[in-house]
Amino acid sequence: MDKLLINGPCKLNGSVEISKAKNAYLPIMCGVLLTKESIRLQKVPALRDINTMNSLLSQLGIKIEKEGRDIIYTADSITSQEATYDLVKTMRASITVLGPLLARFHHAKVSLPGGCAIGSRPVNLHLENLAKLGAEINIESGYVEAKTNGLKGAHLVLDFPSVGATENLMMAATLAEGTTIMENCALEPEVSDLAYFLKALGANISGIGTKTITIEGVAELGGCDYEAIGDRIEAATYVLAGLMTNSEITVTGFKPAHIEFILEKLVAAGAKLEIGDDFVKTKASILKGLKLDTAPYPGFPTDVQAQIIALCTQIPGASVITENIFENRFMHIPELKRLGAQISLKGKSAFIEGGNPLKAAPIMCTDLRASAALVLTALCAEGETEIQRIYHLDRGYEKLDEKFSSLGAKIQRVK
Ligand code: UD1
Repeated sequence: MDKLLINGPCKLNGSVEISKAKNAYLPIMCGVLLTKESIRLQKVPALRDINTMNSLLSQLGIKIEKEGRDIIYTADSITSQEATYDLVKTMRASITVLGPLLARFHHAKVSLPGGCAIGSRPVNLHLENLAKLGAEINIESGYVEAKTNGLKGAHLVLDFPSVGATENLMMAATLAEGTTIMENCALEPEVSDLAYFLKALGANISGIGTKTITIEGVAELGGCDYEAIGDRIEAATYVLAGLMTNSEITVTGFKPAHIEFILEKLVAAGAKLEIGDDFVKTKASILKGLKLDTAPYPGFPTDVQAQIIALCTQIPGASVITENIFENRFMHIPELKRLGAQISLKGKSAFIEGGNPLKAAPIMCTDLRASAALVLTALCAEGETEIQRIYHLDRGYEKLDEKFSSLGAKIQRVK
């Protein structure tokens, strides 16, 4: 198993280009099931989650051709409507094939994802609302089996603005007969990106980027070329790396507006940032303690919670970070404590007393974003930190070691 060796503390400089968002591409890849026409997705990041989704799509019989960084998908005939447990358990985003399969083929069998390292992550909102669109749903032996004689538009109100449920239902509704009105939709930029992709296929969607999305079903969809948005979570991770190491770095290839909430809080805490339309430049800054609570977009993203805690270990004084989205998303804390960080957990909140010198130690990744927090902290710890189980990082950070190396970090991947 690969591991990372990071020698700290280090100073970074230069510029880093962010990859396209995997959390935009994963649902878009499920969307290729909605049409028999070919779809070219551009600059798809080379990530483990993308490979997992490709394996799932090819199990269903979709043709997949790679051309450089582009991938061309053709779902003109499929051989299976079943997403098996062995793939779904490794990546929850697989549940998003349910809506498209049901809409186009009127049948889908998808393994229930089960829990994962960060929490129980139910899918009740996906299922209840697919039923309102006319699906007959049975749960048996760990699988959801859904059938329909044809989906019909309906008025859906989500109890919580779930990203995954909004995506699944929006895709199902594109081929449903009549009008679907979805209220309390997730506002995450990846949801809007999926909607723009579906529009490029010929879907009739309005209200994109608002809490109420209206979809007029169409009989069939066509093909398109599509390039997803830059990865706001990867971008935030590098901006935080710049601030934590007191470095001047430029992070490009994404929309800073997508992380406006974080940037505003950082600036209010003393961060010196130059913010353009498509880049953020960090400068040496002295920050004050932070108090942040994760919330659905446009609030503070749960996917940056671990990395912000890493930043707080470098800010002298007290910070409090509260996790409201997932019940078990603090697995990075015991690892950060091994580096000497002073953090205590009370309920949903982490209390960080920052500014103490940190020392290298062997540590271990537990989930994707937790792993990013370990890397950031290791950049600031004295000595050589060994980070194990970096396959978690490879799920969602393209060429992380190469990108940090090009910024001047002493980071090495070893077998
Ligand atoms: C969540 C994040 C998303 C992030 C992704 C990957 C939020 C709101 N969503 O999306 O930004 O990119 O993780 O880490 O921050 N829930 C239910 N029933 C359901 C679906 C969800 O109760 O059917 C609950 C979940 O338990 C959780 C919350 O809703 O507490 C958010 O879930 P959801 O947005 O669906 O999660 P993801 O789509 O995985």
